[in-house]
Amino acid sequence: MCGIVGFVGNEQAAPIVLEGLSRLEYRGYDSTGVAVYAPEKGLQVRKAKGRLQVLSDQLHGGVDLPGTMAMGHTRWATHGVPSDVNSHPQVSTNGRFAVIHNGIVENYMEIKEFLMDHGVQFVSETDTEVVAQLLDYLYDGNLLETVEKMLHRIRGAYSFGIICADEPDKMVGVRKDSPLLLGYGEGFNFFASDVTAFIDRTREVSYLDTNEIAVVTREGIQVYNEYLEPVEKERHHVDWDISAAEKGGYAHFMLKEIMEQPEAIRKTISPRIQNGRVVLDDLHYEADYLNNLDKIYIIACGSSYHVGMAAKYSLEKLLRKPVEVALASEFRYCDPLVTDRTLAIVISQSGETIDTLTAMREAKRLGARVLSIVNVVGSTIARASDDVLYTWAGPEIAVATTKAYSTQLAVIDLLALNFAQTMGTIDQAEYDAILSDLQAIPDKLEQVLKQKDEIAYFASLYFNQSSIFFIGRHLDYAIGMEGSLKLKEISYIHSEAYAAGELKHGTISLIEDGTLVVALASYTPLFEKMISNVVEVKSRGAEVVGLTVDSHSEEMSKTADHIITVPDIHPMLLPSLNVVPMQLFAYYVALQRGCDIDKPRNLAKSVTVE
Ligand code: AGP
Repeated sequence: MCGIVGFVGNEQAAPIVLEGLSRLEYRGYDSTGVAVYAPEKGLQVRKAKGRLQVLSDQLHGGVDLPGTMAMGHTRWATHGVPSDVNSHPQVSTNGRFAVIHNGIVENYMEIKEFLMDHGVQFVSETDTEVVAQLLDYLYDGNLLETVEKMLHRIRGAYSFGIICADEPDKMVGVRKDSPLLLGYGEGFNFFASDVTAFIDRTREVSYLDTNEIAVVTREGIQVYNEYLEPVEKERHHVDWDISAAEKGGYAHFMLKEIMEQPEAIRKTISPRIQNGRVVLDDLHYEADYLNNLDKIYIIACGSSYHVGMAAKYSLEKLLRKPVEVALASEFRYCDPLVTDRTLAIVISQSGETIDTLTAMREAKRLGARVLSIVNVVGSTIARASDDVLYTWAGPEIAVATTKAYSTQLAVIDLLALNFAQTMGTIDQAEYDAILSDLQAIPDKLEQVLKQKDEIAYFASLYFNQSSIFFIGRHLDYAIGMEGSLKLKEISYIHSEAYAAGELKHGTISLIEDGTLVVALASYTPLFEKMISNVVEVKSRGAEVVGLTVDSHSEEMSKTADHIITVPDIHPMLLPSLNVVPMQLFAYYVALQRGCDIDKPRNLAKSVTVE
């Protein structure tokens, strides 16, 4: 997510804002900028791609910018690659409005076209510049009313900081879904996306709710609702230390990111579902091209590879085209069967994984068209692909991926629906049913996350296991792979995901008294078979945690020692729900074992060396 800081008071503002931005650096960003108002200078904006320190050095720590009102931004690119011109603050052509923004304006293109038809010249690729230009287009001399009019024209999930050079005694903060806090001082006040930005100056905060507008001056803060009716905000005293504040109060980034998954999925899918149809940015795959495909190759590493394993079931089911999933490090050396009728889907959170990048280049050399699914805008893999679909999970800090993995699954589901509709391989009823359940995932995930204490209890029973098995069939097998990797990489317990039907061909010899088996049995067509596999391993002494859907919970509870359930959902979408209990299980086992959860031994967030 982007970082926002705004300050107005009786001392020079730029150094305070730059200091606040430095406390938001942990969130990850690719560019920074500040806007400062001073009577003798007017509204000044300084911004640049790259590290905050570079900008701060250019401004001598902000001393070069006089003025007692300023706001600053660290940008995590979503629309428009990282660059100076795409950095925030974005400014209206006449310099009257400066805007900083966290989130996504879904209908920015239609507004941009409207404004261009009215003579507005744009300089950036961002949705944020559209907001600055729209504010100027609507401005009638009353900033608050202009902001209200603007908000009724845009759609999306966002928070804004706004300064208007014609009304320089105030800053405006707006929240719709993306967090924005208010910080109260004596003779000064703040807004920020995160309490860490100002916690060293004030711990008195209030939290804007969605559709609220804050007018911030050095004398005080007035909050309004979307109808400009005044709203009284409850104040809170924050007693976190800086480290806890960076994690939003969670003990680790990994837990924070697990809990952020509903919001991350909402941000990733909402802009791509318009009027009951999946609209994939500016992707255009013709029916002839798709129907003529000889194969879809999914190429990735680690958890991204596990997304591919789940995707295989969905894509083959809906498109009736062969899907091969390859580990990038193997693909490069297996003399792969690739033609110009092959579509290579390359999945990578970081967009910098060297095995995946090199395999992608090999696929292109062999004639494949490459579509990448990436979380980091402007990353190497994204730039080297023919097409890219971004996951808008925001920066993922923990080495063990969670929200990026979940948003990759969501993008694959969107892609499967979009391709199937283009190819004519899905009927409208099935399309609508899947799309409806896809949009319900965030709310269903919220239900799953409420079980975190139960899952923590299971972890307390089994954190001393020497080996843990994840067994499943079909999609459950694919998700078991991710559950096993999560456990291994942060708790250091050996684990294995196994096709449940394959156990009797050897591996069941490893099952002995007390061995923990996590049995994933959410895929209804194979539920009875999974019950048999649970009986099979229990008869050899295993302890079984069964993971299934609500409609099978009674049956599973007769057989397994413990059960975890997820809400019923279209079978194709089960991975998006099933993965979360296993993320939480791995987290709490590692917590019990005192492991370094966010930075596990021997691992890096992005593997850029072979
Ligand atoms: C997942 O928890 C691991 N951190 C690792 O397997 C990761 O998924 C893999 O290295 C691929 O990274 P990428 O998605 O950035 O390409």
